[in-house]
Amino acid sequence: MKTVTRSIAFSATLAAGLVLSGAALAQQPIVVKFSHVVAPDTPKGKGAEKFKELGEKYAAGKVKIEVYPNSQLYKDKEELEALQLGAVQMLAPSLAKFGPLGVKEFEVFDLPYAFPSKEVLTKVTSGPVGKNLLTKLESKGIIGLAYWDNGLKIFSSNKPLKGPGDLKGQKLRIQQGSKVLEAQIRALNALPQGMAFSEVYQALQTGVVDGTENPPSNMFTQKMHEVQKYAALTNHGYIGYAVIVNKKFWEGMPADVRAALEKAMAEATVFANDVAQKDNDDALAAIKASGKTEVYQPTKDEMDAWRKALLPVHKEMEARVGKEAIEMVQKVAAEMGYK
Ligand code: LMR
Repeated sequence: MKTVTRSIAFSATLAAGLVLSGAALAQQPIVVKFSHVVAPDTPKGKGAEKFKELGEKYAAGKVKIEVYPNSQLYKDKEELEALQLGAVQMLAPSLAKFGPLGVKEFEVFDLPYAFPSKEVLTKVTSGPVGKNLLTKLESKGIIGLAYWDNGLKIFSSNKPLKGPGDLKGQKLRIQQGSKVLEAQIRALNALPQGMAFSEVYQALQTGVVDGTENPPSNMFTQKMHEVQKYAALTNHGYIGYAVIVNKKFWEGMPADVRAALEKAMAEATVFANDVAQKDNDDALAAIKASGKTEVYQPTKDEMDAWRKALLPVHKEMEARVGKEAIEMVQKVAAEMGYK
């Protein structure tokens, strides 16, 4: 067993012990550890805090929700292992990170320029495609509770960046595990480097990678703008999250407590999705105001060139994410008036 796995297994055993002694002392609150990799001051960070506030209130002392931001407990890959082993109970990984769990269809959300608007996205996540994806997690010992938004990604680099040709030959950090993101970077004739989120700042600073992609909120709160000279408002892809829990833990909770947490999750979801756009707008304004990254708005011709370079990824990745899911996204977009 790897050291990381061993230490997660050890914490899981400890956690199981705590659950047992918790059951013996009925008045002890049930502890929900919610681990995530971003800063508290982001849409996901704020959503997690809102869930803590509402969950503890509705469960009236029966639950204690501990939020661990910024990869404090685990990095991306480890947190999924930790959830399955029961060392933590709740996570909200980006939809790009479910491939290694064996549910590669989540990567439909990574397809470049697939979602013409937030309304299309919401219709997809709340419709059959979104629900079906969450159901697929159950065989992995996981229950999917909700989808949370972050926002649209922009590319950044240490070399001037306007059109898709400018990234040629560069090493670009992507989220670990997503084959769609790898294909997207290759479509730009660049080199994809999967890497944990917590390692990105240093990798950019030391030149291990030349650039990356993320919504402004993640870029600003991780200070990536301090180590990236250029960014282009490509808005080429989406980062959103699935809030997930350990199935055994969730189903083992007293029904009234679970109902309280479900209510809290429904309200925290509305809250997180409401703050996401403004958070990203504010972060972009702050990046521009810092004067550290030159933020470029591509012209219409350049935007067409980005699309032309990246859209072939849809066909290329059809076998991975499923033709049906891609067609469903296109159908929803068409029904909502997008061509
Ligand atoms: C990333 O790794 O870039 C993002 O998935 C981080 C996050 O959770 O938003």
